Amino acid sequence: MTSPSPYDAIDRDPVSSGNETDESPQSQADSHGLQITEAMAVNLSADGLMALDDQYRIRLFNPAMERLTGLKSQDVCGLVCSDVLHLKDGHDASLCDTICPLAGKHTGSYDVEGIIVRPDKKKVDVDLNFSVLCSEDGGLEAAIVNVRDAGSLRQADHIHSTLLASVSHELQTPISIIKAYANTLARADAKWSEDTIRDKLLAIEEESDRLSRLVSRLMFTSRLSAGAVSLNLMLIDLPKQARRVATRLAEVDKSHEISVRFPDDFPPIMGDPETLDEVLTNLIENALKFSPERGTVTVGGWTSETDVYVTVGDHGIGIAEGNQEKVFERFYRASESSTGAFPGTGLGLYICRNLVHAHGGEIWVASKQGAGSRFTFSLPRTTDG
Ligand SMILES: Nc1ncnc2c1ncn2[C@@H]1O[C@H](COP(=O)(O)OP(=O)(O)O)[C@@H](O)[C@H]1O
Ligand SMILES: [Mg+2]
Repeated sequence: MTSPSPYDAIDRDPVSSGNETDESPQSQADSHGLQITEAMAVNLSADGLMALDDQYRIRLFNPAMERLTGLKSQDVCGLVCSDVLHLKDGHDASLCDTICPLAGKHTGSYDVEGIIVRPDKKKVDVDLNFSVLCSEDGGLEAAIVNVRDAGSLRQADHIHSTLLASVSHELQTPISIIKAYANTLARADAKWSEDTIRDKLLAIEEESDRLSRLVSRLMFTSRLSAGAVSLNLMLIDLPKQARRVATRLAEVDKSHEISVRFPDDFPPIMGDPETLDEVLTNLIENALKFSPERGTVTVGGWTSETDVYVTVGDHGIGIAEGNQEKVFERFYRASESSTGAFPGTGLGLYICRNLVHAHGGEIWVASKQGAGSRFTFSLPRTTDG
C-alpha cells in the first residue's frame, strides 16, 4: 500500500464542521502569493492531530492521523474517540477506560503513552498529548490531541539498554577471571609450580582474546550501523580459508571435531578475506558453542552456475522454527541459549548477515530443535571463476 503524500491533502478542508478556514484572518500570503492557511498547517503536519467536541466525538482527523491509524477521516469523524482509537497499554489493557485525560474534568495538557492497534492488526507505539478545555463545572468543552509515532524512539532506547546489559555482562566474566588469576599469581606468600603458572597465564591470554574479540565485534557493529563497511575485494580460496579458521578454533576447543570438506573443483571467488574470515569464525564458533554434547561440526560447500555455497552444520541444541529468522537480528538470542551456559551478545549472526549481504550473497539457517542446525551462505561466483 502506498501511503498518501501529505501534499495530497492540501486542498482538503480538515474541519468537518465546515469552518471556512481558508478565509480565516490568520491566513497569510508569502512573497510568492501562496496562501498559508490553518487548514494547510493541519493537513501538512507530520504529527497526528485530532479535535474532539464536548461529546468526545471526533471533529477533525488529519492526514498524519490517517497514516498512523490506518483509518480514514470520513469514516471516523462523528464517532466517539474511544470507539476509534482503542488505546491500550503494553499488557493489552484499555487505557480509554482507565486513564483517559478527558474524564479528568480539568482544563490542562496531559501526556499519555499507549499503543494503537490498526485495522491491519499492526501495533503502533504512540505518544499522545491531550490539550483539554473544560467549563467551570468540569464538563468537557473541546480537546485537541497530538499523536506521535514513538516506535522508532522506543526501539532506539531498547537497543541502547540491551547493548549496555549484554555488553556489561560479557565484559564482566573475562575481567573477573583475569583479575582473579593475576591476583593469585601475584601473591607474595605463595610458591607456584611452573605448570600452574603456565595454566593461569594461558587462561589470562584466552580471556584477553575473548575481550578483544568482543570489542572488535562491537566496533564492527557500530561501523555497520553507520553504513561504513567497505570491502577489500580479491580473489580468494574459500576452502583454504575455512580450513585455516577451523584449525585455529580447534586449537582452543579440544572437545569437538571439525571436519572441513569441499569439492576439489570449488572455484575461487571475489571476496574480502578479513570479513569472510569473520563470517566463518562466527558460524563455526556458534556450531561449537551450541553443541554442548561434543560431536562433529561439519564445514562444506558446493556450487551452482551463478553462486558458491558454504555450509556449517552441527548436532547441537538447534533453533525453534519461530526463531530461525530472528537469530540474524541485532542482539537476538534464542531463549534456550540465553542462559549462562552459552555466553554471547547476539551480535555474531547480525554481523554475518550484513557482511554476506555486502558481498551480494544471502545467509539462512535450517534447524531442528534438539537435533542441530545448518547455516548456509551464498556468494556470487566471479564471472571468470
Ligand atoms: N549453531 C547454532 N545452534 C543453535 N543456536 C544457534 C546457533 N547459532 C546461533 N544460534 C542462536 O542464534 C543466536 C544468535 O547468535 P549470535 O548472533 O552468534 O549470538 P551469540 O553467539 O552471541 O549468542 C544465539 O544466541 C542462539 O540462540
Ligand atoms: Mg555467536
